[in-house]
Amino acid sequence: MAPSPQVSTHPLLVHKLAKLRSCTTLPSEFRQLVYEISQVLFYEATRDVPLRPTRVVTPLVECEGRELAEKIGLVPVLRAGLGMANAMLDALPEASVWHIGLYRDHATLQPVTYYNKLPPKPDMSMAFVLDPMLATGGSAVEAIRLLKLAGTPQIKFIGLIAAPEGVAALQAAHPNVPIHLAAIDSHLNEIGYIIPGLGDAGDRQFGTA
Ligand code: URA
Repeated sequence: MAPSPQVSTHPLLVHKLAKLRSCTTLPSEFRQLVYEISQVLFYEATRDVPLRPTRVVTPLVECEGRELAEKIGLVPVLRAGLGMANAMLDALPEASVWHIGLYRDHATLQPVTYYNKLPPKPDMSMAFVLDPMLATGGSAVEAIRLLKLAGTPQIKFIGLIAAPEGVAALQAAHPNVPIHLAAIDSHLNEIGYIIPGLGDAGDRQFGTA
């Protein structure tokens, strides 16, 4: 059975999420909030990344330090995942970024891949799929399928807001992929939007609403 999604209860994140949802939040503030919430989620989702010993020379002596034992990859689903990737890349500049372009066919609500910049043989040992809105789950399921096909050993999903339908679809397709979120909302409406949600996360980041 898939483990329960990890929904952050950090008070600062909960506070910022309310601002993110508000229809009066302008794109510049919306991008900043996506950035700040994504960094908190990234710290939480990397809490269990193993460390290994390394030697460090300080200005005074040589001593033992520790470094990440995983090579981390960030996989934003275009275009709404880009703001999340920026935040995480600032938190961990040595991470690689692989872009996957998926759009939802409006008639079928199924994902269509239009861009795939995954290396054929990824050398990353842990990849984080980033998509702010886990709605039907179709894009996340497909992105993770592509990563598994490319041989990525460990995969996690980070989103901002999910619908219960999206969580169920992702858990059913990929029960071994942990899910990290800022919120799980009530339901999807008839055109696949999360309710109450925040509207279209891509449009709101890039001012194209
Ligand atoms: N994608 C979005 O940007 N918002 C939703 O509510 C659902 C999918």
